Amino acid sequence: MNKVMLVFGTRPEAIKMCPLVNRLKQEPNFQVVVCTTGQHKEMLQQVLDVFSVVPDYDLHIMKERQTLFDVSIGILQAMREVLEKEKPDIVLVHGDTSTTFNAALACYYLKIPVGHVEAGLRTYNIYSPFPEEFNRQAVGIIADLNFSPTQRSAENLLREGKSPESIFVTGNTVIDALSTTVQSDYTNPELEWAADSRLILLTAHRRENWGQPLRNIFQAIKKITESYDDVKVIYPIHMNPIVREIAYEVLGDNDKVHIIAPLSVIDFHNFIARSYLIMTDSGGIQEEAPSLGKPVLVLRDTTERPEGVSAGTLKLVGTDENVVYEAVKQLLNDKMYYERMSKSINPYGDGTACDQITKILRNRFKNNI
Ligand code: UD1
Ligand code: UDP
Repeated sequence: MNKVMLVFGTRPEAIKMCPLVNRLKQEPNFQVVVCTTGQHKEMLQQVLDVFSVVPDYDLHIMKERQTLFDVSIGILQAMREVLEKEKPDIVLVHGDTSTTFNAALACYYLKIPVGHVEAGLRTYNIYSPFPEEFNRQAVGIIADLNFSPTQRSAENLLREGKSPESIFVTGNTVIDALSTTVQSDYTNPELEWAADSRLILLTAHRRENWGQPLRNIFQAIKKITESYDDVKVIYPIHMNPIVREIAYEVLGDNDKVHIIAPLSVIDFHNFIARSYLIMTDSGGIQEEAPSLGKPVLVLRDTTERPEGVSAGTLKLVGTDENVVYEAVKQLLNDKMYYERMSKSINPYGDGTACDQITKILRNRFKNNI
């Protein structure tokens, strides 16, 4: 029996790791242990409920307005105890959050092998996104197994000198979920509210956008709602009070904008499917929207997901108020341009990432059962 521990703590990690937890649990020769750091609380629980995953450990580290120091210290300290008790054969972490980095660092200190799911994404600017680019590069140094979503991300790792035997192109586990969440008969009162309009679905939370960049984005949206009668905006807002304060200040009394609580992932995928265009600074949404054929204006200066930009469904627009406003206007005014961006593409795999990762782990441990 081999013990596989999965560690995650935020909403996007949970969305992409829960399908893997459930797949690995079908393997008779694996003992699966789930440890959530609790870097997120409500937004994490929402995902655990959707996938019916009950963690074996919850480190409960979240505090309101937590700093990177709070999160890092909390995780590193609490992970030590769990790892020393459980002594897993391998720990799987996901992506690029503080949970990812600190869990991998704790494993490194205890010489426990690490598998990195969603490995090799890069902007090569450690301040953009901050601190995610540092986190994923640092985990890249530690990881024994790298599960890359695309050939391009695998090539980044090869260029950095990682051994080819440690790298596997598996696709992204989020695509595994996407095939089941979108339903043609889905309904929701918020979508009914927007049914007479072109719907812009908005999310924004990135640390480097806190302050003026967020204010610029919201001002641009305000201008759009003043310029177009047939546009409505739904913003399922992140629970971070720093983000909420600015959003309510600029958009709180705008009757064309509904700021709503975070949606469950099933709802959110269906909202993407019904929207006209997406505005986001999120990472994961840049993977989901192209496969549903929705144009995405990326509210960031860099992206680690160049596949969608090359294909033409993502456009990097940054956070300058005028640039954002003009980019939305172009999509709303120019039908041909809109059609070109709405191509449905899926560079992130064929929905078998969890199966592939399971098989790779099975092979790794086959002489050790
Ligand atoms: C974290 C990740 C980021 C990821 C994002 C996904 C780091 C440094 N950042 O950023 O990479 O894109 O998650 O959403 O790892 N909060 C709640 N309830 C929740 C979740 C958050 O109240 O369920 C509030 C808390 O006040 C918390 C704050 O949001 O202090 C910020 O959470 P944190 O995890 O530090 O940062 P995120 O911006 O969510
Ligand atoms: N998401 C969700 N509910 C929402 C907004 C987003 O379930 O209200 C999902 C979305 O489908 C994607 C993930 O959350 O899978 C993205 O998470 P987030 O933007 O918080 O983090 P990032 O991907 O930027 O790290």
